[in-house]
Amino acid sequence: MTDVALSDVAPHWFEAARLGMFVHWSAISTKGLELSWPLVGGIPVLPYSDDVAVADYYDGLADFDPDPASAAAWCALARRAGMGYIVLTTKHHDGFALWPSAHAPLSVVQGCGRDLVGEYVEAARAEGLAVGFYLSLPDWAHPDYPAFGEEDKPYISFLGRRAEPEAWDRYMADLFGQVRELCSGYGPIAYLWFDGHWERAGTEWRAPELRALIRELQPDCLVNDRLDGVGDVATPEQSVPPQPLPGRWETCLTMNRTWGWHPGDTEYKTARRIVHTICETAGKGGNLLLNVSPTGTGALPAPQVERLEAVGRWMEANGTAIHGSGPGLEPWQWYGPSTRVGERLFLHLLSRPYDTVSVRGVHVRRVRRVVHLASGAELAFETTTTADQEMFGTDPLGEVIITVPGDLVDDLATVLELDLGA
Ligand code: GLC
Repeated sequence: MTDVALSDVAPHWFEAARLGMFVHWSAISTKGLELSWPLVGGIPVLPYSDDVAVADYYDGLADFDPDPASAAAWCALARRAGMGYIVLTTKHHDGFALWPSAHAPLSVVQGCGRDLVGEYVEAARAEGLAVGFYLSLPDWAHPDYPAFGEEDKPYISFLGRRAEPEAWDRYMADLFGQVRELCSGYGPIAYLWFDGHWERAGTEWRAPELRALIRELQPDCLVNDRLDGVGDVATPEQSVPPQPLPGRWETCLTMNRTWGWHPGDTEYKTARRIVHTICETAGKGGNLLLNVSPTGTGALPAPQVERLEAVGRWMEANGTAIHGSGPGLEPWQWYGPSTRVGERLFLHLLSRPYDTVSVRGVHVRRVRRVVHLASGAELAFETTTTADQEMFGTDPLGEVIITVPGDLVDDLATVLELDLGA
């Protein structure tokens, strides 16, 4: 018999947030193309990663000179959407660094000359968001990686051309140099989000050394699991794992099918589906890193803003069930996700109840009240236990049957709170 174990979750920023904003943005966003993948000919998993000639991909990237107010707008929206952190692609696989790096052959230095990472960090701090940096391990423009050319198409991942050992040493010196710049030039960094690890083995990335450097410069910084073997956060992509993962984890998810801005991709998830994913990830003890795709000016596409505003309205009313929460009940106890914060148990109703809903295997005498979280309305409930539990149990386990009035049902998701005192 599973008891409802209620305990407080450590108030670390990662669990406190449960929801964050991923920003896929780079110079290529001026052309309305997916980040990086078009230059290697596209990949089936990203249906909008068009095939573009390498030279055409890089042509004109120096014109990237976005609106200086854009980062502030993303961060304000992230806040309104109930997000607690933000992760920006400081350099994607195409190698374009958004800060004036002394260790990247291609960066804002060849373009607008602004420190776009610095502008982003300032905006994030102003909104109280924990700051994350995405950094691609591969650099498809770096001569020592070696740079990707037409002759390398189609893309073959791990089996791509390898640099000579000396060139690889130079490449690693640049990669370590970039990490050093990011970890020492911008104050406290909460999260480093590596990507592209699949192209080389962990030993080739010198993962333990890189992790040690980060620990030295940013002792509290979390690192994702794409730096093989040394990460703190598992990062399943584009789907919620069927079972909770051990340790910290985070699902990253696009709202449509593309990470970067692509005007042709209108295959958007509904706000309802996004909210359900927030409930599902929190209910399994994970985070959701929801992606936005600013255009080349830095503006967010209207369908993404609309969805985030809807998420924000929902989080405003229901965020108590998400922020700082841990997993709630076992699947057999409740048909759907549930979370808990201390002695407050939150039931997430994703389908629309027509009458009553039931929770099983709880200490029924401890249920002080049941509340519709968004309105604070107290709901009627009854409890049942087996006859022997009723007669002989001092703290019987049983079922709570809650009446849910139709007018309290939210189109996105309805949250009920059970107060379970000792
Ligand atoms: C994949 C893609 C990359 C994207 C990342 C986000 O690894 O290569 O384009 O940035 O997913 O999780």
